[in-house]
Amino acid sequence: MSIEEVKYIEEVKNEMKLPGKVRIFDTTLRDGEQTPGVALTVDEKIGIAKKLDQLGVNIIEAGFPASSPGEKDAVKSIASLSLNANICGLARVLKKDLDEALACDVDYIHTFIGTSPIHRKYKLKMDKEEILQKAIFAVEYARDHGVKVEFSAEDATRTEFDYLLKIYKAVEDAGAHIINVPDTVGVMIPRAMEHLIRKLNENLKVPLSVHCHDDFGLAVANSLAAVEAGATQVHVTVNGLGERAGNAALEEVVMALIIHYGIPVDIETKKLVDISEFVSKITGVKMPPNKAIIGENAFAHEAGIHVHGVKEKAETYEPIKPEMVGHKRRIVLGKHTGTKAIKSKLEEYGIEMGDEQLRILYEQVKELGDKGKRVTDADLKAMAITILGRA
Ligand code: KIV
Ligand code: ZN
Repeated sequence: MSIEEVKYIEEVKNEMKLPGKVRIFDTTLRDGEQTPGVALTVDEKIGIAKKLDQLGVNIIEAGFPASSPGEKDAVKSIASLSLNANICGLARVLKKDLDEALACDVDYIHTFIGTSPIHRKYKLKMDKEEILQKAIFAVEYARDHGVKVEFSAEDATRTEFDYLLKIYKAVEDAGAHIINVPDTVGVMIPRAMEHLIRKLNENLKVPLSVHCHDDFGLAVANSLAAVEAGATQVHVTVNGLGERAGNAALEEVVMALIIHYGIPVDIETKKLVDISEFVSKITGVKMPPNKAIIGENAFAHEAGIHVHGVKEKAETYEPIKPEMVGHKRRIVLGKHTGTKAIKSKLEEYGIEMGDEQLRILYEQVKELGDKGKRVTDADLKAMAITILGRA
C-alpha cells in the first residue's frame, strides 16, 4: 500500500511518539508453545529457531529452562547454534530459575514476577515490598552474570500505576536493559495502552517493550498503540500462537509497522508465509483461511467486481502486493464469480472458448455456487472440456 494515499493516517502521525526502529522479540518457542495442545520436541524447536533467525527476528525466547529437562536441553541447543538473534531464556525471579537459564549459555534473560493485586494476593501470597525485592535481586543477579536482562511485571496492565512505576524504576536502577509491559490477560484497549506506555516512557530511561495477549482480539492493536507511545520492542509469536487466545501475531505486527507506520524492522517479509506454514505444520495449529497476511484467502478474490478490479489494477482490492509476504494472488470461483474470472482461469490452462460456450460455463459455475459448492480449478477444467466436446 502506498500509505500516502491514506491521508487519515498521515493526519494523526504527528500526534504519535513513533520510534525510529522497532525490535521484534519472538516468543513462539515459549509463550507460543504454551498454546493448549502444543508440545515441541528439541529438534522441532531447533527447526523453528533457525527459521526465525533467517526471518530476522532480533530476539528468540527459546523457552523456560526451569520448566523441564527437555526444555532446558532445547534452550541450550538453540543457544549453541550461534544464530544472529539474541537467544533468551525465561526465568522467574528465583535464583534456581536464573541458574537454569544461565546454564543454557543464553545471552539474554527475561525475568518476571506478577505485580497486580490479584497476582499478589492469590498466586504469590506476597506483599508489594517482597515482590519488589525479588525483582531487584533477579535483575542484579542476571546482570552480574553478564547477560542482557529484560524485566516483566506480569499482569502489568492490572497493576496500580504508582506501584508499577516504583518496581520498574527499581529494576532500571538495578541494571535492567529493557522493561517489558505484559497485558497478560489481554484486557487493554489501544487508547489505554498508548496512555500507559506514554506515562511510563516519561518516567523511565530504559527502552520499553510490550507483550500483548489476544483475549479480546486486540493484541496487535494494543501492541501498535504501545509503539505509537514510544515502545521500541514488541513481543510476538508466529501465527499469533500462545496461551488461551494467543499473543500478538508476528506477521500482522510486522506488516503494520512497515506499511502503516513506516517503521523499519529487520524482518525479511517475503519469508512470512513460509514460516507461518512451517510453524502451523509442526504445531498442528491450522490457520483460518481468512487470517490476515498469511491466510490462504488473504489475497484470494471471488466476487466478479473484485476480480475485474484486480485484473485492471491490483491495488483496487489488494492493500499490498502478495509477493511482499511470500503469498500469491488467487482467483476463486463460486456464486459471486464473473466471466472475467472464468476467462482468466481458462487462459491459465490454454483453453479457448467462444462467447456462447463461455455463457454456458458461467451459468454452470453459478448453479454450483448457488448449491453452496466450491468450484475447484479441476471442476472448471472438466466442465469447460465437456462443453467444448459438445460443440
Ligand atoms: O503473559 C505474560 O505475562 C507472560 C510473562 C511471562 C511475561 O507471558
Ligand atoms: Zn504471555
